Amino acid sequence: MCGIVGYIGSKSAKPILLDGLKKLEYRGYDSAGIAIFENDGIQLEKKKGKIAVLEEALKGKDWKGTVGISHTRWATHGKPSSINAHPHTDCKEKIAIVHNGIIENYLQIKNRLIEKGHNFITETDSEVLAHLIEEEYHGDLSEAVRSALTKVEGTYGIVVMHSDHPNLIITARKGSPVVIGIGEGENFVASDVTPLISHTKNVVYLDDEEIAEISADKYRIFTIGKEERNHEVSKIDWGIEDAEKKHYDHFMQKEIFEEGDAVYNAMRGRVIPEEGIAHLGGLNMTDDEMRAVKRIVIIACGTAHYAGRVGEYMIERYANIPVEVEYASEFRYRDPVIDEGTIVFAISQSGETADTLAAMQEAKRRGAKTLGIVNSVGSTIARESDGGTYIHAGPEIGVASTKAFSGQLTALAILALQFGRLRDMSVSTGRKLVKELIDIPEKIENILTQNDFIRKLSEKYSIYEDFFFLGRGINYPIALEGALKLKEISYIHAEAYPMAELKHGPIALIDDKFPCVVVVPKDDYYEKNISNIQEIKARDGRIIAIATEGDKEISKIVDDVIYIPPTMDLLLPLLTIVPLHLFAYHMAVKLGRDVDKPRNLAKSVTVE
Ligand code: F6R
Repeated sequence: MCGIVGYIGSKSAKPILLDGLKKLEYRGYDSAGIAIFENDGIQLEKKKGKIAVLEEALKGKDWKGTVGISHTRWATHGKPSSINAHPHTDCKEKIAIVHNGIIENYLQIKNRLIEKGHNFITETDSEVLAHLIEEEYHGDLSEAVRSALTKVEGTYGIVVMHSDHPNLIITARKGSPVVIGIGEGENFVASDVTPLISHTKNVVYLDDEEIAEISADKYRIFTIGKEERNHEVSKIDWGIEDAEKKHYDHFMQKEIFEEGDAVYNAMRGRVIPEEGIAHLGGLNMTDDEMRAVKRIVIIACGTAHYAGRVGEYMIERYANIPVEVEYASEFRYRDPVIDEGTIVFAISQSGETADTLAAMQEAKRRGAKTLGIVNSVGSTIARESDGGTYIHAGPEIGVASTKAFSGQLTALAILALQFGRLRDMSVSTGRKLVKELIDIPEKIENILTQNDFIRKLSEKYSIYEDFFFLGRGINYPIALEGALKLKEISYIHAEAYPMAELKHGPIALIDDKFPCVVVVPKDDYYEKNISNIQEIKARDGRIIAIATEGDKEISKIVDDVIYIPPTMDLLLPLLTIVPLHLFAYHMAVKLGRDVDKPRNLAKSVTVE
């Protein structure tokens, strides 16, 4: 989705802004633009397409200005075009703004401003902000922005500059993240921390309905009601190297190879092997409060939702607490029943997904305790929940979520252990679970050594246009995740079903052109799964199996097998997912797709 970078200091702003925009490329965008104070006025360039196109257009422009704002746009209102790209300006081109979010009442505002003589040149909702600030401006930029924002409905992360105020940029947020990077004699503003880490690790996250006045050497934050705020400065705990590709061809590849680390990092310091217990500190709940929990609702979208579905099995089995997993986008518009004893977990890599955030806010409004399982430190879901846990997977840059999924599964396993040991789980089961969990990163490394084999397999299957992914029990959500990964980055049609559902209809599609990927480790359901595989075979279906090392029988039935090491049934998803992530990755590479930035997708979906 859209990205923002702003700079105010003593260095040339242009390279800083362009570099920052490149760091935001992973979010997905269709056009980019930049505005810089230069020669007493605002100079502007914006282009449809990649940042490289904008860079090309800027080549002849020797701008040395030290203050500027920039943006990558992901079209919502108005098609992707150079004219619709941000920054947008007012009638006199004295004000420039960049905006993330959606102004819902923009048409009313636009019509009113047109009546007053304002001249609009784009199809966007965002342009109204520039004209509205122009209308409200009487010499005080901060006040003009504040006053304009009281008139808009919707969401915004906004940065504004005005040619009468060359030493000031104004930023504000409501529902769309804004973070201020604090440097020495320079300050930054961005929509997430990725463009900031090469400059500073000290950041301040704005809360909703806050406005900040930023100059080179100071910043002040106010509420929209004009009350001054003093926010704590947070330290970013990862470095620039974590957001680089290193020797990998793609971020997604690197992140799959970090899945073992993701498990380790989500578990580190949270389990006690001798006692077979776990402790997720941030839940802010006493043991008695945890024992009193009667129902858990998990809300999430996409891959995070599938992690929740795995968590459902883990928590119900180990902690004996009923769990419901909902798509956040559905939950928020239902009439969800939240009774005493229900707690709600929101799972989100970015911590900014609009549907998950809104669902969490709805749960909170209905009196639920809300807890986050989040990767991005300081993100909105992390800050607005009543507590929760970070998975510490580090920055995930590839649009397709991989290592965050492994971190989410680990956090859920720990949660199941923590709740379980406060109830009926025996110390020996607890110890066994911790021991197996500790061994998982090494087992993931073992699976990753099959990278070349999985690449060749993907290449062999790249001629097919449709796939089924099938799994049973806790590995059914893994089939869902495997299918999602394949479709989103390789654009191949893939559907997932619970193994036994196939014969209730979908089996009609099976022939030698419709392969099935079956997740059939040696677990409690193995024999039943084999019967289902035979049904596929009987209809000439081609089959790739994810199976447990040592299972020789399976290789006689299916066409190809990827082996994983054994582990406890409820931890199998931490292993079975890794070959499926690699399979999707190599398939997309083989088909020449833009793996890290698949078409039509954005890393963080901050609109409904
Ligand atoms: C799939 C993918 C998406 C996200 C979903 C939720 O690979 O990346 O399905 O999982 O948009 O995003 P977060 O976890 O940031 O809330």
